[in-house]
Amino acid sequence: MASRFTDSVVVVTGGGSGIGAATSRRFAAEGATVVVADISADAAAAVAAEIEDKGGSALPIRCDVSSAADWAAMAEHVESRFGGLNVVHNNAATVTIKPAHELEEAEWERQIGVNLTSVYLSVRAFLPSLRRSRGCIVNTSSVHAMLGFPGRSAYAASKGGMVSLTRQLAVDYGPEVRVNAVLPGPILTPPWKAESDEYIDLTLRSTPAGRLGTPAEVAAAVCFLASSEASYISGATLLVDGGFSAQKDPTQ
Ligand SMILES: NC(=O)c1ccc[n+]([C@@H]2O[C@H](COP(=O)([O-])OP(=O)(O)OC[C@H]3O[C@@H](n4cnc5c(N)ncnc54)[C@H](O)[C@@H]3O)[C@@H](O)[C@H]2O)c1
Repeated sequence: MASRFTDSVVVVTGGGSGIGAATSRRFAAEGATVVVADISADAAAAVAAEIEDKGGSALPIRCDVSSAADWAAMAEHVESRFGGLNVVHNNAATVTIKPAHELEEAEWERQIGVNLTSVYLSVRAFLPSLRRSRGCIVNTSSVHAMLGFPGRSAYAASKGGMVSLTRQLAVDYGPEVRVNAVLPGPILTPPWKAESDEYIDLTLRSTPAGRLGTPAEVAAAVCFLASSEASYISGATLLVDGGFSAQKDPTQ
């Protein structure tokens, strides 16, 4: 277990916070060199420094995942520094909560760009490396791919598109490259700190697990899908939601 990713190079987008930071830590703890990619250079640097302080190996990179140029620069950097890579974890996302008719076109496009087009761009940047290493891609989608919530049209469309794209990429790039997605439910990351007590209470009552998940619990699922233990899993989606999507109404 401790050495599942020895000699592996892993890119984690949105690696500076929440689920991405937890996944970066977990990959590093299991031996990987982790490229912590984030639009916030400071956040990426802080997570990479923490990993290095603990004896792991990490490289922070500032990257806007909606930018083809940033992906190309990152691929060039990773290729020249490490000679290739094994895993891309597409995890960065953004959300603007407004009903569709109030969403500005730029807000729609930004969410689709960051959450969905980024996966396509990751393939354009890293497919040759992934084919060489017989590597894999793990995408962070969401329960929003399956369930509607008020005001999240572009976010839901991007997360649903991510599930379809995951399957499509698995078809196009097998057998060399496996492609899977995790669908987290309510996970206690910084965005949740802004939610009201009422909304958190409703969420807890809507979740059979009776609590929010931790970023480390999603990281465990991502690392499983990226590992050789998941060698016959491709085009799959794995819910990590404490049963949230299985329950319709909140309990009393
Ligand atoms: N937390 C949850 O309850 C939950 C539930 C379902 C899905 N998710 C998904 O999990 C993933 C991580 O979310 P989180 O809760 O850890 O959020 P978070 O806000 O803690 O982390 C997101 C990170 O992405 C970075 N980021 C944003 N835009 C970027 C861009 N254009 N390029 C590069 N980096 C960018 C941010 O700087 C931040 O560090 C997202 O894909 C989110 O949709 C989260």
